[in-house]
Amino acid sequence: MSDTKSGGTKSHKLWGGRFAGGPAPELEAVNRSVDVDFRLWPFDVALSKAWASALGAAGVLADDEVNEMVRGLEEVGRRIAAGARPEAGDEDVHTIIDRLLHDVVGGVASRLHTGRSRNDQVATATRLWTIDACTKLDAMLADLQQTMIVQAESLERDIMPAYTHLQRAQPVSGAHWMLSHFWPIARDRQRLSAAATAASVLPLGSGAIAGSAFPVDRRAIKDALGFQAISHNSIDAVGDRDFIAETLFALAVLGAHLSRLAEDLILFGSSEFAFVRFGDAYSTGSSMMPQKRNPDALELARGSGARMLGDLVALLGTLKGLPSGYNKDLQEDKRSLFDAVDGTSLLLPAVTGSLATLSFNRDRMKAAVTSSMMATDLADYLVRKRVTFREAHGAVGQLVREAEEKGVEMTALPFASFKSANAAFEPDVMDELSPNTSLGHRNLDGGTGPEAVRRQIAAAKALIQD
Ligand code: ARG
Repeated sequence: MSDTKSGGTKSHKLWGGRFAGGPAPELEAVNRSVDVDFRLWPFDVALSKAWASALGAAGVLADDEVNEMVRGLEEVGRRIAAGARPEAGDEDVHTIIDRLLHDVVGGVASRLHTGRSRNDQVATATRLWTIDACTKLDAMLADLQQTMIVQAESLERDIMPAYTHLQRAQPVSGAHWMLSHFWPIARDRQRLSAAATAASVLPLGSGAIAGSAFPVDRRAIKDALGFQAISHNSIDAVGDRDFIAETLFALAVLGAHLSRLAEDLILFGSSEFAFVRFGDAYSTGSSMMPQKRNPDALELARGSGARMLGDLVALLGTLKGLPSGYNKDLQEDKRSLFDAVDGTSLLLPAVTGSLATLSFNRDRMKAAVTSSMMATDLADYLVRKRVTFREAHGAVGQLVREAEEKGVEMTALPFASFKSANAAFEPDVMDELSPNTSLGHRNLDGGTGPEAVRRQIAAAKALIQD
């Protein structure tokens, strides 16, 4: 540690003894990461306390030194919580904590950095931050899922079109559509949980690259900090950012899911669909067009998925081609990680709020279900009468064409038309043109029949109760 003059600012450095002069201001500017990594401070304080205790247990520090340091670190935490902020000369979060610790406990602070490096330190702090972030994101995702369940239950008996190629395809229960967005979020939560598990491996004790030369008990540090495991290889441990890649992948996929949910809702909110009306609290107006009711939060959800994707690509780009061990390139990891977590944390409550406050126009949804959407059911009807599906498909196609040419619904075609399309048609075929009959055929698991949807809602509820 040395206090050097450089760039006109007095700085508390964790290095510098081997240099005749201070670093160029241009180097300091590019090297400085405290504006990004300052938020790691609660974790850096926690790991420093664990490290001080481990140094004490290893006989490197005397008991009173450990006590003084732990007390000092707690005071540093309080000072930062009360508003102490980085100064111009603070290179990174580790520097400001070291500087404040010197202010609080004086010279004994200079013993804390024994046997550790910022390489194992920053990896440890970033892992702790990531585990915490995954927990917070998970709670927000659970809220979103809860809102989906509430909406699904309200739509259980409402019928709407399901679309393929954005063309009306087949009738489904509104709950079935709503929950089609629930299960992707369930997978996102699993991915985030797996990323948190990947993060839960302790690097501290790896030193700069070769492991600490002091016999600290890494398992005790692991337990003190709540990690699940300790790293097996110090070279790997200081350069491993897989847990960040996994978190960013989980967030990029989540971003895609939010974007698709948002797009469904935006589309359904257009006057052409008018299936949903956005709540006042989540609608914005236009400065020019007084009638507008814009779903900005959903549009931002749709748009900002691109950022999470960019953050993932940026991190993978940084990692690829790096030599083993720590390289300063890795400082960039936190920019991507924080950006993706911040963006997602901002979006999730807004998406949940948008969904919770919108209302469905059940009549519009039902009115969009036309008889031609039961074409598959008509073909299935013939199949039940032993007609081959191929033949049935052709016969129903003929009926669809006839209705289209006459400009009527298939329900308005005379029975004679059915009979001439295929002799196996009986008068009871008219039942098949009801959307409720269509749904009633689909009570297999995962289908949109009323009983299947009831089971699905129960499964969704059970999942989030766990
Ligand atoms: N700010 C650095 C980072 O985020 C901390 C580690 C610096 N290590 C070093 N040897 N300069 O990666």
